[in-house]
Amino acid sequence: MRRFPEGFLWGVATSAYQIEGAVDADGRGASIWDRFTGESGDRGDLACDHYRRWRADVELLAELNVNAYRFSIAWPRLIPTGRAPLERRGIDHYDRLVDALLERGIEPVVTLYHWDLPQALEDTGGWRNRETVERFAEYAATCFDAYGDRVRWWLTINEPWIVGLLGYLHGLHAPGYKGDVLGEVTVFHHLLLAHGRAVQELRARGDGRGSKIGLAPNLSPHYPASEGAADLAVSDASDGYVNRWFLDAVFRGSYPDDMRARYEELLGPLDFIRDGDLAAIAEPTDYLGVNYYAPRVMQAAPDDRPWPWRVIVPDNVRTTGGFTDGVARTEAGTPIVPTALTDLLVRIRDDYGPLPIMITENGAVFPEPVHDERRIAFIRDHLAALHEAIAAGVPVVGYCHWSFLDNFEWALGYVQRFGLVHVDYETLARTPKDSARWYSEIALRNGLPDY
Ligand code: FCB
Repeated sequence: MRRFPEGFLWGVATSAYQIEGAVDADGRGASIWDRFTGESGDRGDLACDHYRRWRADVELLAELNVNAYRFSIAWPRLIPTGRAPLERRGIDHYDRLVDALLERGIEPVVTLYHWDLPQALEDTGGWRNRETVERFAEYAATCFDAYGDRVRWWLTINEPWIVGLLGYLHGLHAPGYKGDVLGEVTVFHHLLLAHGRAVQELRARGDGRGSKIGLAPNLSPHYPASEGAADLAVSDASDGYVNRWFLDAVFRGSYPDDMRARYEELLGPLDFIRDGDLAAIAEPTDYLGVNYYAPRVMQAAPDDRPWPWRVIVPDNVRTTGGFTDGVARTEAGTPIVPTALTDLLVRIRDDYGPLPIMITENGAVFPEPVHDERRIAFIRDHLAALHEAIAAGVPVVGYCHWSFLDNFEWALGYVQRFGLVHVDYETLARTPKDSARWYSEIALRNGLPDY
């Protein structure tokens, strides 16, 4: 049996827009996702109807034996127009949710921003506009004042890289811009600044409550597709784009020189970065949330724009990562590489120091409605990889599986099922899958049986 540290947080994760529905309830304002329809054509208006069914969902969480639940607060429910006044009914909703979780011994792990920006703020430039950072700081302060007496674990921004990449470069996520590299990097900076401002707001309220705060980036370990110099070089370069841009800023107070030079070559001076910004971004945090799904295997593509590289799925490609010859994949085509999680965690410790880490997302698309053996194997192998990192001295404090429920998977809609619990989108009935039962045993024992 692989034992996990005492007090380890065994959690599941969701986000507001992906599960709540009830987009017009209790004075909620519109969010950018209400106005955006992704490739699938599916919409989040009803989703899992969790806003109305939350009590039963909390009972279900208790049945899963989890002692942590990561969820996000919908900014447009608390501040419908992005500026005062506040909407009391929205505040009260999460108040009740937090209390119900705590009554069942479940620690709330609360994300402030999981992509549902109030549409009113998009109308004035969204994350491209520096003003939005201050609106976010006010919203964060509202949350700390409302729930900070009970919530100990806060996460500021979910996956800033994805917000820029899919929302500004590829047009796949709200607000739907394409090919806008300047928009992308401006938004990265403002999201990081928003993170730093939220940390400052929490600190200004004193440390007496023992609350902890951190960023939740998605990080992908990088491996070159071959030992060739060109592949090695782009593997490092893309690591600067995806990982170092965010980690260096938060933990070193500077952007990596190589990546900064790349942006400047394309865009000229990055004058949206002002004096003092990096100090605010690097305001010390208490832990790091890590969303890990898959590694990136990198191949040089000198003619590709804006970046001269490609991500390949390693099929009969020998990589230095030790995974080769047709790795297993999820139903979404994502390679399944648990050992890369160990590499990633050890590397974060080596490069950025021994900050506590919480795995804030890790999961996979498998379509089986109930007997999801492949999901069990996926979680088991990733927990073993996590355990190996802990054994190597990385201070990992928890694991939140993505996701608690099948839900609205953004541009990909309802087809991609990530849940431990199946949702029938006709009846909205919830049915725990085999993986849910398996995971609840692990959580109860605080250990992974040998296999
Ligand atoms: C992450 C998101 C999360 C979910 C999973 C599958 O990028 O943070 O909301 O969509 O991927």
